[in-house]
Amino acid sequence: MSSQKRKILVTSALPYANGPIHLGHMVEYIQTDIWARYQRLRSHECYFVCADDAHGTPIMLKAQAEGIAPEELIEAVGEQHRADFKDFGVNFDNYYTTHSEENRELAEFIYTQLERGGHISRRVIEQAFDPEKNIFLPDRFIKGECPRCRAPGQYGDNCENCGATYSPNDLINPVSVLSGARPVRKNSEHLFFKLNDFEDMLKEWTRGKHVQEEARNKLQEWFDAGLRDWDISREAPYFGFRIPNETDKYFYVWLDAPIGYLASFRNLCARTGLDFDEFLKADSRAEMYHFIGKDILYFHALFWPAMLTGAGFRAPSGVFAHGFLTVNGQKMSKSRGTFIQARTYLDHLNPEYLRYYFAAKLNDRIEDLDLNFDDFTQRVNSDLVGKVVNVASRCAGFIAKRFAGMLSDGLMDEALYKEFIDARIRIGKSYENREFSRCMRDIMTLADKANQFIAEHRPWEIAKEGTRGDELQSICSQGLNLFRVLIAYLSPVLPQTAYGAESFLNCSVSGSGDWDALDQPLVSHRIGSYSHLIQRVDTKAIDAMIESSKQPETTNTGTVNRTTNTIDIDQFGKIDLRVARIVKAEYVEGADKLLRLTLDIGDEARTVFAGIRAAYQPDELEGRLTVMVANLEPRTMRFGVSEGMVLAAGPGDKEIFLLAPDHGAQPGMHVR
Ligand code: MSP
Ligand code: ZN
Repeated sequence: MSSQKRKILVTSALPYANGPIHLGHMVEYIQTDIWARYQRLRSHECYFVCADDAHGTPIMLKAQAEGIAPEELIEAVGEQHRADFKDFGVNFDNYYTTHSEENRELAEFIYTQLERGGHISRRVIEQAFDPEKNIFLPDRFIKGECPRCRAPGQYGDNCENCGATYSPNDLINPVSVLSGARPVRKNSEHLFFKLNDFEDMLKEWTRGKHVQEEARNKLQEWFDAGLRDWDISREAPYFGFRIPNETDKYFYVWLDAPIGYLASFRNLCARTGLDFDEFLKADSRAEMYHFIGKDILYFHALFWPAMLTGAGFRAPSGVFAHGFLTVNGQKMSKSRGTFIQARTYLDHLNPEYLRYYFAAKLNDRIEDLDLNFDDFTQRVNSDLVGKVVNVASRCAGFIAKRFAGMLSDGLMDEALYKEFIDARIRIGKSYENREFSRCMRDIMTLADKANQFIAEHRPWEIAKEGTRGDELQSICSQGLNLFRVLIAYLSPVLPQTAYGAESFLNCSVSGSGDWDALDQPLVSHRIGSYSHLIQRVDTKAIDAMIESSKQPETTNTGTVNRTTNTIDIDQFGKIDLRVARIVKAEYVEGADKLLRLTLDIGDEARTVFAGIRAAYQPDELEGRLTVMVANLEPRTMRFGVSEGMVLAAGPGDKEIFLLAPDHGAQPGMHVR
């Protein structure tokens, strides 16, 4: 079976270091992991690297909001990401961070090469600037009224209400999300990567079979529209790498993010003695593949190959895009409880279920895929438990009890065994081509055949007749040999189950070269003891998982505080708690949870949106005292700017109790 040994570098996109991994992300990491495990299984030299994407404005601001240094934030998030991946069985050879020395060096090197090649230009551009925070504002940090339908609270790039797209300049009454201030226009000089210099190279690369057909069409549209210069610099303050020989300019996060693939690999090379250049030099014979989501195709199929080529490196052998995950037919939603974090899933369900389910749905195209929990339950129970594990559990007991764990000295049905191992070619090809759903179908067809074999020979009946021992042993030995083949085929998808099967079969099925070893069936071989390999899906666990994923859309899930769980007295001292009188309480049109409160805190009136509509009628609130956080950064919500927060207790919904101070309190009093 073995052909030539290939050298392969494979990556998944680098998740942002400002939030938790969710099941949408997992599509990609599981897809790549299955592919990489398959390559290793076939004895190829395959390195799977990834990293956290640690730079950029959102990460800088999130750290600020949490009152910590960005380094602290990315460290804490990185730790969670690693744990999530590990517990899902995603087996990276290296998981690194883009905020590393290797990445700084490589980014500087690539930039310098592009600059020397004449591929960097500079010009002054005008951008929105927050005059209070002294920071240039990315589109997502500006909100205002839609220029078309005048819906309030729309982002700077498009309107969620009417679907119009526009530039932040066009917003009516724009405000900075950070300060609530009106942004001003400000000039600064930016550096640009001249993508157009690489048009021929990119067209050539696209014509080669390096991208999927849908991606090729997309690229053609981009070529037709004309390739535009790419803005690769950002002004201070920014969390990232300074651009060499410039003052206060930083590389845009998307410049150093893909370079992070190389930095992670270089770090691996330094640790293990691998030769970086052998994989990256322009005429390398090694292969390099990037698995990505469809949303980041532009970066990976245009900028990235051009940057690599411009810097004298090789271009990718393949960029493989997948679609987006929906849950129960809809976009993942925090309020429906379908925005499920990897950790929440792991708290309730076996990761192998999801690996199998995704495998059963994934193909080589850029299609969205749906996680439907009824389908999930049904497939896992009927395929993995009902078909695959069933083969082992029906045979194992007899071999253990009657034959001291010993398999018979020959195969009862050699033709059937041969049919099973011959499927390697087709199944292998499907794995190679990322047609995982086809692999799973083929494997389940074989599993049906194995069950059929057992059903036809009725070992449980033969066992009752004391005289047919040899036959019983042969049937069960055949069954277990078929099971071994099935589990070897499934091992890239179900590493943990395969591991359990290995100790039961007393034979390796998931190691390098193990598919080739299937040529030799297990005869006169002693197996280990059987313990149940995979349980049925407990639908109560799914309900519990969804329940604990439910939260209002706006809630910040917290990153660092989840790990440290405490704030110190200084942080507490920063919170300005004041007695406030509710002078007005009103319904908010279009918001079924909110009330708009006008609060008097002595010297000032504040508007606060509070999610307490289910608990209070507006008129029962007017005139009452409560406690508010008076120095919370104003937040632009869909319905206006909220200038603080009122404190409340209770489980939520109808049971929310505003904290009311004892009598004698006056609006504006500090609370301690
Ligand atoms: N940091 C960038 C990638 C830089 S790569 C040099 C980024 N990060 S991300 O955290 O937003 O997404 C990481 C990967 O997960 C991307 O490939 C993205 O497409 C994928 N997915 C994020 N949400 C997803 C779904 N709901 N469904 C499927 N994949 C999704 O983009
Ligand atoms: Zn609109």
